[in-house]
Amino acid sequence: MDKFKINGPSKIRGEVSISGSKNAALPILAATLLFDKNVTIKNLPRVKDIDTMLNLLKSLGRKITFKNNKKIATISKGKKNNFFAPYSLVKTMRAGILVLGPLLAKNKKAKVSSPGGCSIGVRPIDIHLKAISKLGVKIQIKKGYVNAIAQEGLVGSEIRFSKISVGATENLILAACLANGTTTIKNCAIEPEIKDLTNFLKAAGAKIKWIGKRTLKIEGVKTLKNITYSIMNDRIEAGTFCVAACLNGGNLKIKNFEPKIINTEINLLKKIGAKIKTTKNTIQINGPKKIRSLDFLKTGEYPNFPTDLQAQIMVLLTKANGKSIIEENIFENRFMHVPELKRLGAKINIKGNKAIIEGTDNLEGAELMSSDLRASVALVLAAFISRGTSIINRVYHLDRGYEKIENKLKKIGVNIKRISK
Ligand code: EPZ
Repeated sequence: MDKFKINGPSKIRGEVSISGSKNAALPILAATLLFDKNVTIKNLPRVKDIDTMLNLLKSLGRKITFKNNKKIATISKGKKNNFFAPYSLVKTMRAGILVLGPLLAKNKKAKVSSPGGCSIGVRPIDIHLKAISKLGVKIQIKKGYVNAIAQEGLVGSEIRFSKISVGATENLILAACLANGTTTIKNCAIEPEIKDLTNFLKAAGAKIKWIGKRTLKIEGVKTLKNITYSIMNDRIEAGTFCVAACLNGGNLKIKNFEPKIINTEINLLKKIGAKIKTTKNTIQINGPKKIRSLDFLKTGEYPNFPTDLQAQIMVLLTKANGKSIIEENIFENRFMHVPELKRLGAKINIKGNKAIIEGTDNLEGAELMSSDLRASVALVLAAFISRGTSIINRVYHLDRGYEKIENKLKKIGVNIKRISK
């Protein structure tokens, strides 16, 4: 298993370019199962989860050809048309469940492994299944598999999600766009990645309309036309680099990213003292000399502060001048970075879903363990502002979602090395 060796402290300086969004690419790749014609997807990030989704598409009978170092993939229908998504592929990446909607739309049946446990929370799929069953689908769960059949094909319906879910919104959009009739979906997630999915499907001829802030109307169409589509860039990667620049009074230009997508995050970083200038697709960020603490920050659905940046912002607050509180409202077990940050000397106490952080300037390098994608990147950030050497174990978590992170960090002044065994 690969490790990172990081010598700190370092200060960030220079320019970084943001890669394609993992969480936008995953549902769009699942959507390619809806097409009879070829689809070309550009700006794919070169990360492990994308390989897993591409392998899943192959196992479902799709043919895939690549260009530009696998950043462009053309996906076409193969001879066989499989509707079985095995545990071996879905267990490593929960987004595998997103093939359920498109498989049902195309084949009237699907057998998809239930994703199983996850380190950041229970993450059930009940909301996906309840909504999909409203489109005329009979669902049975047997031996860890979701067995779904739509005898008469999918039929449009009116659905209101009991809770906002990114994945369930995506799965339902994917199912509804080829269904018979009209589907109205209320209380949808409105994350930018969902908008990227609806933009992609609309470009291919799907009839999807936002008729309210969180309400979608989808009129089923018979087929989708072949298209080439470029995935949006990764807002969590952009946010991570913004935080990195603030840690030690850094100075960073973030290229290839539309700042308005992360308005909430930019305003928050201004509050802690960062100086930020933006253009249409760049962010120039100068970190503060002294980081100001935040009385209270809570994670929430977009456009609120994202849970996927909670661990990174916590690292910043470990250096602030005073006490800050972060409340995690999306996942019930997303403080796994806390014990590791404490090993570096961070002063953090957890009370239920709140972390109380007391700022300190005394972080010292140590050996650390990654637990999930965003926790791992937080450890990398913490290690490069700590004095001395840190070793971060199990960086495969990071490889799931950050493209060449050590190369990007090296270029902007972080002393980081991958140790492969
Ligand atoms: C997506 O996960 C992202 N994953 C996550 O990114 C992100 O943290 C999350 O949305 C929240 O923004 C992808 O886009 C591939 P949810 P998803 O359904 O869709 C509960 C990362 O680091 N829930 O919006 O799985 C659930 O347990 C990650 O890149 C149910 O109870 O998230 C959670 O508490 C990890 N039943 C809440 O809803 C359901 O059927 C929100 O989850 C579905 C969800």
